[in-house]
Amino acid sequence: KEIGFIFDLDGVIVDTAKYHYLAWKNLANSLGFNFTEKQNEQLKGVSRVKSLEILLKYGNVKLSEEKKQSLLLEKNKEYLEYVYKMTPKEILPGVNQLLTFLETNNIKFALGSASKNAPLILEKVELYKRFTAIVDGNDVSKAKPNPEVFLIGAKKLGMKPENCIVVEDAIAGIQAANAAKMISIGIGDKKVLSEAAYVFKDMTEITPDFLKNLIN
Ligand code: BG6
Ligand code: MG
Repeated sequence: KEIGFIFDLDGVIVDTAKYHYLAWKNLANSLGFNFTEKQNEQLKGVSRVKSLEILLKYGNVKLSEEKKQSLLLEKNKEYLEYVYKMTPKEILPGVNQLLTFLETNNIKFALGSASKNAPLILEKVELYKRFTAIVDGNDVSKAKPNPEVFLIGAKKLGMKPENCIVVEDAIAGIQAANAAKMISIGIGDKKVLSEAAYVFKDMTEITPDFLKNLIN
């Protein structure tokens, strides 16, 4: 049967979570409170606006809409300083092998990311041209766990949702894939991603045998 893959970006293709964290942490510090790596887990897969809401809740800080807008710009400016320095070396282990396997087997793949910076990041790590379709934070109105981002991805691939396989590192992303009736593959901790159909520690663990079983 014909199938397609849809990949999340942050935490699946590249480890940009560390840059998001540094930028959010600086923002929290500038507002007078600390922000831990553990708290940062709650921000993974979550949109920029929603992330700020969660952060401000941690700090017990209430701000005007105007101030929030300027903080969002500031945060993204700092985040982009890290992004501009990215190179293909930051592609996570196993990603290139998997993409090559898909290309060799004529299986199309799309990106399904909450990030508005996704196209830029893919350009920086020189993967942009390999994707048949790119759906990012600029294209969606409903954030994960809403399935919108993946449903648009399936449409762009010309694939039925049930024939799509989603690769995700965030709980919200797995929930979005399941809500879209797609096959969900979690990358990370089995306990955290227990709602996924399959979970692997990292992309190197996705073997050609597993893939062949999945596509046949
Ligand atoms: C997701 C990340 O992919 O994109 C989140 O996991 C991030 O941490 C979100 O907040 C939005 O990203 P951006 O680049 O538009 O701020
Ligand atoms: Mg992610």
